[in-house]
Amino acid sequence: MAISFTVNGTERTLDISPDTPLLWALRDTLGLTGTKFGCGLNRCGACTVHIDGEARRSCILPISRVEGKDITTIEGLSPDGAHPVQVAWQNLNVPQCGYCQSGQIMAASALIASNPDPSDDDIDKAMQANICRCGTYQRIKKAIGEAAAASRRQA
Ligand code: FES
Ligand code: FES
Repeated sequence: MAISFTVNGTERTLDISPDTPLLWALRDTLGLTGTKFGCGLNRCGACTVHIDGEARRSCILPISRVEGKDITTIEGLSPDGAHPVQVAWQNLNVPQCGYCQSGQIMAASALIASNPDPSDDDIDKAMQANICRCGTYQRIKKAIGEAAAASRRQA
């Protein structure tokens, strides 16, 4: 079945089984391996991407559901790594092993886009389902605050 959507600004049409999870299409068919497989069960957030600007879990989303949608992966968040979330992540050395981090960054960037001045509670709620086995939560929270402040200065 042919399914068309946009990924990181490029229109793509894939001839693919409609129940294929979006994550598989991104990683295996399109070679966008920055988005990670963690649990495959909507429980960890490693596979988070933006769909029409919202943070969504790509491991449980059948490709048939993204027809006509606009998808952004970590590879397309910014052309040069200069998104305020990416800059704050680097400034604060957030990652440890790194495996969860593209999902964390995609969740954080969606939060800031919808809520430019998130409270601690807002951050906790938005990020609570993104698991980090290395326990980088405090740095993630601090980096989101820094990124939000930087975004507001740029606005
Ligand atoms: S891999 Fe999708 S939520 Fe864990
Ligand atoms: S940095 Fe290792 S799982 Fe999060």
